[in-house]
Amino acid sequence: MKKINVKILGTGSYVPEKVLTNADLEKMVDTSDQWITERTGIKERRIIDKSQNLSDLAFEASKKAIEKSKISISDIDVIVVATVSGDMPFPATACILQKKLVSNAVAFDISAACSGFMYGLSIAKSFIESGSYKTVLLVGGEVLTRITDWTDRNTCVLFGDGAGAMVLQASETENDVLSVHLGADGTYTNLLNIPAGGTAMQTTHETVDNKLQFIKMSGKEVFKIAVVKMTEATQKALEIAGKKDEDIALYIPHQANLRIIEAVGKRLGVAKEKVYVNVHKYGNMSSATTIIALDEAITSGTVKKGDLVNIMAFGGGLTWGAAVLKI
Ligand code: COA
Repeated sequence: MKKINVKILGTGSYVPEKVLTNADLEKMVDTSDQWITERTGIKERRIIDKSQNLSDLAFEASKKAIEKSKISISDIDVIVVATVSGDMPFPATACILQKKLVSNAVAFDISAACSGFMYGLSIAKSFIESGSYKTVLLVGGEVLTRITDWTDRNTCVLFGDGAGAMVLQASETENDVLSVHLGADGTYTNLLNIPAGGTAMQTTHETVDNKLQFIKMSGKEVFKIAVVKMTEATQKALEIAGKKDEDIALYIPHQANLRIIEAVGKRLGVAKEKVYVNVHKYGNMSSATTIIALDEAITSGTVKKGDLVNIMAFGGGLTWGAAVLKI
């Protein structure tokens, strides 16, 4: 049987208009622009409007990706949304997006936190290569600012909202997803999570009083593991793809913290100019970060057609992953 390849048809992204600066945060918690800039590299982030939900951000990003892909909505067989901040606990935000797009595709969400887009890529690749489905719309999107405790300076300075989308399709000739490598370690579940609101700890007045419906994080521990795991995942993805640093035009790490990005670049031994950074503009948008950065790099001409890009992520679970893509 002839091998089915995976072609990337197009990408799109959308961030809400409202900007929250470090100066704004100085008025909300005991912090400073200097601390946030030095410890994270973040200068501002986007905040979703009250009238919008994740499915709206996903819709805007998807429309752009579909338009660039020059396909019609009816061509889409599967919609996958990677998120930890969907419109509702269920049904899947992918189903709400399907309705907004007026599509009849199979639709479901995946939960792999900041690594969600990597996990989604692996699913899309497998669906297409196996011949199960021909065209996949993959979205990474979050409204982290609605699951953030705005009185906790340890976390509220870090997060932002946004969505990115990619359309992938079966191809007989071109192969654009050269490799995807994934990993997870559930022994670290306690380092980064939302304690309440699931079935293990149902929402009660007490959980709300204790703000247990918001993100809790042990920043220092997460930082150390992030650097090691993103480096390893990238090396593995390069190895699977049979590529070396000189083949890669751009590295796009998960945009959580500039110090993590720089530490990973250093460990990989890659030139600083080849490591993409936009964390100063958006903060950490979890599953949306790598796809928004990739779309930005394509749109701005930072990468051109035929270039190889390495994207990598790390997040709650703990989970991690990396992929080598041809643009
Ligand atoms: N403003 C001012 N001071 C702050 C602050 C803020 N927003 N947040 C924390 N601090 C204080 C702490 O309370 C601590 O004070 P103390 O020494 O008196 O206790 C001090 O700054 C240092 O905190 P520490 O946790 O050691 O800082 P850090 O250098 O580890 O940076 C993070 C904190 C969160 C920025 C960093 O650990 C990080 O980015 N971790 C990874 C986060 C991440 O990527 N998460 C998502 C993964 S997808």
